[in-house]
Amino acid sequence: MAFKSVFIATMIATALIVAAFLLHGSRPPTQLDQPSAEFVRATGKCAECHLRETSAIVHQFGRSRHAQLGLTCLECHRPVEGQAKQEHHEFTLAMKVTALNCKQCHPTEYEQYTRSRHAAPAWAAVRGPDDFTAEQVAFAEQHHPGAVKRPANGLALLEGPSAITKGCAQCHSIGKPNPDGSIGTCTQCHSRHNTSIALARSPDTCGQCHMGPDHSQLEIYNESKHGVLFHAQRASLRLDARPKDLSTRDMPVPTCATCHMSGLEGMKVTHDTTERLSYWLFAAVSKKRPTYNGGQAEMKELCLKCHAKSGVDRFYKEAEEVVESTNAKISEATALMDQLRQEGLLTPEPFDEPIEFVNFDLWHYYGRTAKHGAFMGGADFVQWHGNYELLLKYTEMKKMAEELRAEKSHAASVR
Ligand code: HEC
Ligand code: HEC
Ligand code: HEC
Ligand code: HEC
Ligand code: HEC
Ligand code: HEC
Ligand code: HEC
Ligand code: HEC
Repeated sequence: MAFKSVFIATMIATALIVAAFLLHGSRPPTQLDQPSAEFVRATGKCAECHLRETSAIVHQFGRSRHAQLGLTCLECHRPVEGQAKQEHHEFTLAMKVTALNCKQCHPTEYEQYTRSRHAAPAWAAVRGPDDFTAEQVAFAEQHHPGAVKRPANGLALLEGPSAITKGCAQCHSIGKPNPDGSIGTCTQCHSRHNTSIALARSPDTCGQCHMGPDHSQLEIYNESKHGVLFHAQRASLRLDARPKDLSTRDMPVPTCATCHMSGLEGMKVTHDTTERLSYWLFAAVSKKRPTYNGGQAEMKELCLKCHAKSGVDRFYKEAEEVVESTNAKISEATALMDQLRQEGLLTPEPFDEPIEFVNFDLWHYYGRTAKHGAFMGGADFVQWHGNYELLLKYTEMKKMAEELRAEKSHAASVR
């Protein structure tokens, strides 16, 4: 009898040890490098308090793939090299969780993202190069010449620090450098604890920043056939399909992410949102990017998963014609401004004369809108928020120029 129970106990113990080894072996490598007792305790311990303190965070985490796979809170919150630490109820936590913590397990996504304009160029668009290290500037300049080495934005400086903090920086912090040497944040698109790809594929997520008269991508998308179908079919789309095998069966209609990032039907997933573009549409006069051919070919390859080639080629041809005609209209207005400066009718300072605001609106709102509308299926934006306004604003500018000239000749005749 005694022998039998000892035998059973030994068998059970052996089985448990083998099971523990098997489980241990299937865990991510960063977890294996850690003192395992702490990890076993970590999520339970954190959740025990945090279900009282900040319960939604635990529930958000509970919905994530990270939680399904048995990752713990500590795996993101523990400090990695270069990060400031804080002691927290028997745990050592990073003072701030940044893209560096995600990079430990997702180096490819981080590397692609840092090549894009979402990284350093986005922050430099507001603040210039001063917040970056020399290496960070050099890296970004290699991919986007002139996008980081440029002065801080003049309009932002005029509007002042509180406008920058609660305005510009809320969107442009997607590329803000962190004290630990990494750049930006992954959580603007994935959220902190849900870390979801379904969220990242939702147009509203991109629309947090990509909206309004200066970059109306969300509004354009919503009025396009793609947007209308998306909203009608949303409930039956598989927004959480794994990127590696995302098919047109999961999502027969594209969102922002599909066109700019997704790996639809075997295409390469990319976190470099610059990769599939062929023009600098945000610029006053839009030139072809150096990557014009490759960028356009990649985007067209994506359209072709769902459309016939003849239609896609026609779509691009017509959109490029809008870029050309918009460039011509903006150049005409710019020439008028240059002329007024030469005639000594304007000061060299920006934004101190009414006509400068009209000229800014002309390209920054209406020129961009016409071009974005043409490439993303927003007819109303090409026409009524685009070309019509271009005509109206330019007519206003010509009238203002006449008045400036009349004032000057009047002043001369009085003297
Ligand atoms: C003994 C209870 C307890 C445990 C265990 C605990 N926390 Fe906390 N934690 C708290 C309390 C209380 C706060 C403060 C909440 C507040 O400010 O309202 C907090 C705050 C935090 C904050 C915000 C800190 C700040 O001020 O920015 C983070 C991050 C955090 N906890 C993460 C964790 C993680 C990760 C674990 C597990 C490794 C953990 N906590 C374990 C009780 C606990
Ligand atoms: C995928 C990575 C990740 C995991 C896993 C994770 N966190 Fe966080 N957590 C973050 C990030 C990113 C932030 C925001 C940056 C910061 O405050 O450091 C954050 C912030 C927090 C905060 C402060 C939030 C606030 O709004 O004030 C608390 C509290 C917290 N986490 C608790 C937890 C707990 C508890 C768990 C486990 C149930 C957990 N975290 C798991 C990434 C993670
Ligand atoms: C300790 C390693 C680890 C850390 C740290 C980590 N992740 Fe993950 N993450 C994983 C693993 C493992 C998967 C699952 C990969 C798979 O299924 O192929 C995953 C999956 C994901 C996914 C896909 C989710 C889905 O629904 O399929 C996203 C998005 C993600 N992580 C974002 C983040 C972000 C953002 C951070 C930092 C705030 C982060 N991760 C930190 C290990 C980690
Ligand atoms: C937190 C704000 C924010 C979110 C969220 C965001 N973006 Fe952006 N995005 C920006 C900013 C700021 C820029 C401009 C960067 C620059 O050129 O200075 C930008 C630029 C871009 C560009 C142009 C890149 C280039 O090379 O000119 C594309 C394409 C883009 N975003 C797509 C997306 C998509 C798709 C999503 C959602 C999956 C998204 N963005 C989510 C802020 C955001
Ligand atoms: C609602 C979010 C949001 C706010 C607020 C915002 N931006 Fe942007 N900004 C964007 C997005 C998105 C783009 C990308 C437009 C595109 O590529 O079509 C962008 C593009 C730019 C660009 C052109 C791209 C480049 O790198 O040169 C500049 C410059 C810029 N923003 C500066 C600013 C300044 C300065 C402020 C504050 C005065 C500001 N932005 C406020 C979202 C925002
Ligand atoms: C059907 C595919 C498609 C969808 C859906 C789509 N885009 Fe685009 N997007 C394009 C194309 C094509 C261009 C122009 C590419 C080029 O330069 O050749 C573009 C241009 C852009 C640019 C301009 C970058 C610059 O140079 O200024 C931004 C930013 C952008 N898209 C963001 C978004 C956002 C945000 C959404 C969703 C609200 C979205 N896109 C939806 C195809 C798409
Ligand atoms: C501009 C929004 C945006 C930002 C910023 C962003 N992601 Fe993503 N991420 C996405 C989208 C969209 C997908 C889904 C791609 C698809 O549809 O194929 C995704 C997918 C992923 C996946 C799953 C990839 C796979 O092949 O299974 C991981 C992991 C991930 N992101 C991690 C990160 C990390 C780490 C960062 C920060 C360095 C980050 N993301 C920043 C939008 C974003
Ligand atoms: C995931 C599939 C998918 C992708 C990718 C996609 N579309 Fe579409 N598109 C659709 C669907 C579905 C419709 C609605 C067709 C209908 O009316 O049945 C549509 C409609 C359109 C329409 C309006 C109808 C028409 O043919 O005149 C245009 C234009 C269009 N797409 C252009 C593009 C371009 C350009 C791209 C690439 C930049 C693209 N689409 C990428 C699925 C897609």
